[in-house]
Amino acid sequence: MLTTLAISNYRSLREVKVTLKQLNLVTGANGCGKSNLYKALRLLAQTAQGGVVNALAQEGGLESCFWAGPENITKGMLTGETAIEPTVRQQPKRLKLGFASEEYSYLIELGLPKPDSTTLFGLDPQIKREAIWVGNKYRPASVLVERRGPVVKSRAEHQKQAGWQTIGQHMQHGDSIFSELADPERTPEVIHLRDTIRAWRFYDHFRSDSDAPARKPQLGTRTPVLHHDGRDLASAIQTIFEIGDRDGFNDAVSDAFPGATVTVHYNAGLLNIGFQQEGLLRPLSASELSDGTLRYLLLIAALLTPRPPALMVLNEPETSLHPDLLPALARLIAKASSLCQVWVVSHANRLINALNEFEQCHLIELDKQLGQTHILGQDILTTPSWNWQQKA
Ligand SMILES: Nc1ncnc2c1ncn2[C@@H]1O[C@H](COP(=O)(O)OP(=O)(O)O)[C@@H](O)[C@H]1O
Ligand SMILES: [Mg+2]
Repeated sequence: MLTTLAISNYRSLREVKVTLKQLNLVTGANGCGKSNLYKALRLLAQTAQGGVVNALAQEGGLESCFWAGPENITKGMLTGETAIEPTVRQQPKRLKLGFASEEYSYLIELGLPKPDSTTLFGLDPQIKREAIWVGNKYRPASVLVERRGPVVKSRAEHQKQAGWQTIGQHMQHGDSIFSELADPERTPEVIHLRDTIRAWRFYDHFRSDSDAPARKPQLGTRTPVLHHDGRDLASAIQTIFEIGDRDGFNDAVSDAFPGATVTVHYNAGLLNIGFQQEGLLRPLSASELSDGTLRYLLLIAALLTPRPPALMVLNEPETSLHPDLLPALARLIAKASSLCQVWVVSHANRLINALNEFEQCHLIELDKQLGQTHILGQDILTTPSWNWQQKA
């Protein structure tokens, strides 16, 4: 389970440290940084997929992702006595992302290369530093792998020789240790962490327009994990029926749509769902369902996966759902959180209120002050300990 997420210098998240629990609910007014927090977590996941540099390019480049305010915010700026103006830079500009978990923790720092007039790729982000340590507290003695620029050192416990070993000297600037160090003998913790992060699941706005992949009949293959665009909905539901929590699925359907049932049909090699509602003589297929019903079925299939990941992230799952469905959605999310760590970003009051009823729900309320995202109610005592240690 992740215990802390730390972000520095990413858009409105100038310096944010969040405590995470089993079920996390991120809320806050428009523009306060909910999506930025979501995107920061996604960037971390993309690091393990080997795609962090591309992901940053798609966001408009590293320079545009950097916090656009001054490096330091003085007391005077906060009280309005002094103007907001650039402060003299004391540290190189870095975007930093990290998480702590009970098992292993990780951080990455990205920056821009030194100016070089011989290349047109002078704005390509570079990975300046990465570190993996054991447990959730960074202590020099708990660091297992430390990368600085092109050089990676490891002090894996299982190695016979004590002390640091240089295990890579020529890392490409854009490649993470997760894509480069894939030797299960020398760095098993890198592989372990990589595989855990790669399994994190992000569901962000399922399409439900008439051409949406979820509306089409599909070739059936066993599908314990619903694709993020929902293209394999019928297979995922059938897989839950065969090897997962069939009763839980049926209960979730009738909780949201009293009297309704879902079946999966096989026709000419293709699978399609049938949604039987009270009052109808035949079940409706995926192409006939309302946007809200289709999205809700997608959420059930995602959340009741027979292969829960370490972390499941839902970005504004309320989109295009009827408000009356939101209490049932909250119950479904709470149930899923007993199988995996869940992170929900929402600004729908009914969903927020219903989730808050659950004891295990950890509310993370965001607020923005002078352009910076803060966590409401967080003070020195409740801010999780995290430091972007410079020296191992
Ligand atoms: N590079 C940046 N530096 C500082 N603030 C930024 C940067 N990029 C975007 N923002 C701010 O982030 C806010 C958007 O946050 P977002 O996470 O999308 O909000 P929401 O909570 O509505 O999802 C915008 O109001 C914008 O001011
Ligand atoms: Mg948003």
